[in-house]
Amino acid sequence: MSEFDFSKRDSFGSKFGAIAAAAGSAIGLGNIWRFPYLMGENGGAAFLFIYLGFIFAIGIPVMLSEFVIGRSTQRNPYGAFKILAPKKHWYLVGLMGVVAAFMILAFYTVVSGWTLEYIYQSIINGFSGKQTTELGQMFDSFKASTFRPILWFVIFMAMTTYIVISGVKNGIEKYTKILMPLLAAILIVLCIRTITLPGASEGLKFIFKPDFSKVTTYTFLQALGQVFFSLSIGMGTLITYGSYMNKKDNLANTAVSVSLADTFVAVLAAIAIFPAVFAFGIEPSEGPGLVFKTLPNIFQQMPGGYFFAILFFVLLSVAALTSTISVLEVIVAYFSEELKMTRKRATIIASASVSILGLATVMSWGSLANVKIFNKNIFDILDFTSANVLLPVGGLLIVGFIGWFHGYKMTKDELSNNSELKARYIPLYMFIIKFIAPIAIALVFLNGIGLLKF
Ligand code: TRP
Repeated sequence: MSEFDFSKRDSFGSKFGAIAAAAGSAIGLGNIWRFPYLMGENGGAAFLFIYLGFIFAIGIPVMLSEFVIGRSTQRNPYGAFKILAPKKHWYLVGLMGVVAAFMILAFYTVVSGWTLEYIYQSIINGFSGKQTTELGQMFDSFKASTFRPILWFVIFMAMTTYIVISGVKNGIEKYTKILMPLLAAILIVLCIRTITLPGASEGLKFIFKPDFSKVTTYTFLQALGQVFFSLSIGMGTLITYGSYMNKKDNLANTAVSVSLADTFVAVLAAIAIFPAVFAFGIEPSEGPGLVFKTLPNIFQQMPGGYFFAILFFVLLSVAALTSTISVLEVIVAYFSEELKMTRKRATIIASASVSILGLATVMSWGSLANVKIFNKNIFDILDFTSANVLLPVGGLLIVGFIGWFHGYKMTKDELSNNSELKARYIPLYMFIIKFIAPIAIALVFLNGIGLLKF
């Protein structure tokens, strides 16, 4: 095994490429599958407003901090902290990110695999003629079966592996530059379809007219967890992507563009879903089954539903793919730079080991359904621990590092590209990073896991 040659380190080729890749990471199942069902369970617009508040107050500053750490060191998260804080234990934050990447990839790729099954079912017209309960059973029995979910999981993992092996510029950037515009186009077509359905306005009211009576403190934890998950922050994905960004790029600009794109897509996904849900008189609070149970039911009643179903599930899988590559890249960057493996070897070892955990996760509703901790199956444990525990803790440590440990001048130099940019927002950013973000993350997190009660 040879030493990693840092002078030949891969990077993004253009600013658009960097934004497409980071937006590709952020925009994923979190936006189109998770956000709408959380909104459905937490009172619609009320959830949206709390979510928006967290995006601006916490999400964007945390994202920016990750870019600073990544771009200033041009290393994987572990190596980055080793450079910025030699002889200190901050590198553990980077290691925690690598562990979180394993967990997220394991359960995320399972759901990504489901999207392939649902593309297949849409193509063979598998929803047609089925009643609501039958469609529900179809999803539940598919989930609990063994062969097909494993097959789709393996196929999805293979696509992810293929892109990551091809490199940062010739793999990740190349594919996200094609896939992200495709995703935007499909989403807009779907939105136009649903808002022109008779009775769509109830759905729009649900999205934009807040009912705060459904809001509990748990809603705040859910919203914050979703901000972290949706923006891909808190575990070093964006440290890794930041490390491939050009020294001339305006990092604040990139962070705001990526966050706005991500939020916009989440809202569009809600617009593509809820008007249809209400138009067909269905309950919005179906939970994780929303897109796999409720939507097929709607598609088969809707004019042109055959094509819109295919489009929708292609949309989901495209969104998922540009995210899985970003999570795998965290592990690959770490393996290749710290454990001195070639990219090819690092990628294969990383995806093979994630697959072992992933296969156990696939069986969360099948042969391993009885494996439970705190009444959560393997899938729920990975989802909850990563989104609601590791990401907020990681985010807290990242902002803590920038706010209190990394010098003000170093941060300022990185954000202003050594004073080439004005960056007037820096004092506000520092204030948020030092006080607001850590306090908010800590409060919401402690309350959510039950250590603190308001
Ligand atoms: N943000 C992605 C989504 O919304 C998922 C994701 C990709 C992610 N990379 C991540 C989540 C890193 C947390 C951390 O679907």
